[in-house]
Parts: sequence; structure tokens; C-alpha cells
Amino acid sequence: MKAARISEYGGPEVISIEEIAEPGIEPHQVLVEVHAASINPFDGKIRSGAMKDYIPLTLPVTLGGDIAGVVKQVGSDVTGFAIGDEVYGQANAVSGSSGGFAEVAAAAAANLSTKPSNVSFEEAASLVLVGASALQAINEHIKLQPGQKLFVHGGAGGIGTVAIQVAKQIGAHVATTATGSGVDLVKALGVDEVIDYKTEDFSTKLAEYDAVFDTVGGDDFAKSLGILKKGGIAVTMAAQVDEATASELGVTAIAQMTATTTEVLDELRALVETGVVAAQIDKTFSLDQIADAFRAKEEGSVNGKVVIAVAEE
Ligand SMILES: NC(=O)c1ccc[n+]([C@@H]2O[C@H](COP(=O)([O-])OP(=O)(O)OC[C@H]3O[C@@H](n4cnc5c(N)ncnc54)[C@H](OP(=O)(O)O)[C@@H]3O)[C@@H](O)[C@H]2O)c1
Repeated sequence: MKAARISEYGGPEVISIEEIAEPGIEPHQVLVEVHAASINPFDGKIRSGAMKDYIPLTLPVTLGGDIAGVVKQVGSDVTGFAIGDEVYGQANAVSGSSGGFAEVAAAAAANLSTKPSNVSFEEAASLVLVGASALQAINEHIKLQPGQKLFVHGGAGGIGTVAIQVAKQIGAHVATTATGSGVDLVKALGVDEVIDYKTEDFSTKLAEYDAVFDTVGGDDFAKSLGILKKGGIAVTMAAQVDEATASELGVTAIAQMTATTTEVLDELRALVETGVVAAQIDKTFSLDQIADAFRAKEEGSVNGKVVIAVAEE
């Protein structure tokens, strides 16, 4: 089978498409014939070596996490999946799976669920980590209620686009940051207020918010605590949390680590099948073009997701 692998850390040029043996499965795993995969910023951080001190990997390794495909084989301890099932989920090598950018992947059953029936494999693959991240933040941490005010920092990104759709369905007032063509995208998703982050400062325009969902990170997260009302909550995907500042302001600040579980993927599937969440795919590449897909994600302007079509549909 073909797989996109690295033998050294670096830019997109270190990725090679190699012919390797199909992975075997452990008792808790499922073998998936991958039809589509999607790129997350984490995949680039693994490839570049930015995470190597925290997540040591033995190279060579197959890159990729998000997948959608068809079950080929089921581990002896696995219940709930059968050969031929259409599934979506994560197959990241850093979690002990075999890597998603490949024609076949061995993935833990605990990170898979039934694929939403009303969308393509590419759409399903595009939603995995971003959908789980948005749902975990909005439902588990923020517990967003109708009428509350939510600021989504980075609304035109992978997580941001799902978060906006979920929050609008709940009935929240949603403000977000975006720029360029991202402004039109977030408006189409129904946001109430858009702030162009290249020309405006959100912290001077928003006040008395119930919640912040930060998908950008950096110093903006600390700044975003200032727009919250007392008792408000801020969740970040990408920043360090300063507990002391949060407690001085009387707000809660949480750094989220997303767990892509079967349960959260079940929740996501229900939202996709009822039309609440639609995939936002900007660009699609083949597995052979994966270095270009990373370049598009890291050097170009992408709204929503970059997807890898692994098998012909
Ligand atoms: N902790 C975890 O478990 C976990 C899980 C998943 C993801 N993450 C992290 O969460 C972050 C977001 O993930 P993602 O998949 O949504 O990434 P993404 O698709 O790349 O989206 C990021 C968005 O942020 C926007 N942006 C960049 N700089 C900005 C600024 N100064 N102000 C406002 N918006 C800005 C980008 O817009 P432009 O196109 O205009 O630059 C883009 O739309 C990444 O850092 C990722 O590594 C963490």
C-alpha cells in the first residue's frame, strides 16, 4: 500500500510516498481502507519536528490523523464495528495507530465511529479533529446556552467554522475574527459580528461576553479574557493559560486537549446528519500530491480544511 512518510523532520519536501506493507492490527484496533484524510495544523507540527521533544517518535513514520473509510478487519477485542462499515475518526501514529495518510490504516476502535451517512468520505474526514474540538469546547467546557454571547477567535479556520455552526444552532450570539475571503465565509455560516483581525482589535470592540473560544493562541488569548463578564469562561486550543490573571478577573480559563472519542464522533455525526454542521473544504489533493497539500495549508490562504482524496470515489 502507499503511505506518506517521513524519515527526518523538516518542510513538506521531507515527505515521501512509499510502498509499504499494510499494518497489522492489535486486539483493540480496526483496519480501515482509507478513502479520504484531512490535514490539521498538528500534522505539520509533527512533520517539522516542532513536537519532537514532547512527543518522541521513532522514524520513519506515516503522517496523518483524520480519516474516513471502510472497515477491512476488526480486532479480537473490538465490538460495535464490522467488516464493510463506513467509519470516520483518527489514526494518528502519536496515539499508537499507524497513521492516516495511507491507503490502509490501523486505528484504535475508541477513536472511530460510524461515518455520517449523508456526506462523502472527504467531507467526513475533514470534520474529525475540528468537529471533536469544537464540540468538546462548546458542550463540555463552555456549556453554551441560548442567548449567551460567544466570541470565536479564528472563525474561518477548521475548528472555527464548526464552532460557529454549532453555536448558532444552540441560539447564541456569535462574534468572530476573520480576514479576506474568510469574512464572507463566516457571514455565510451565520455569525452576528465579524471583526477583521488585520485592521481591527477585537478587545476594543467586544465586552461582557459569556464565553471565548480561542483557536488562534498567542498573546491574544490573555487579551480575550478582558472581554468576558465576571464568571465567564475562555477555552483555548493553542495558548498557555495564565491562571493568576484569570482568577484576578474572576473568569475561568481552560487549555483544551481534544479527545477524539467514539462518543464525541457520534455526537458530531448527529449534527452532520441533521444538517446543523456542514463540512467546509477549501482544497482537495491526492495522496501523491500531499507535499503540495501541506504547502497550501502552511503557505497559502485556506478557509476551512485541506483534504486528501486517497481512493477514487
Ligand atoms: N489542543 C488540542 O488538542 C488541539 C486540537 C486541535 C487543534 N489544535 C490547535 O488549534 C489551532 C486551530 O486549529 P484549526 O484546525 O482550526 O487551524 P486552522 O484551520 O489553521 O485555523 C486557524 C485559523 O486562525 C486564523 N488566524 C490566524 N491568525 C489569526 C489572528 N491573529 N486573528 C484571528 N484569526 C487568526 C487563520 O486565518 P488565516 O487563514 O487568515 O490565517 C485560520 O482561519 C491550531 O493551533 C491547532 O494546532 C489543538
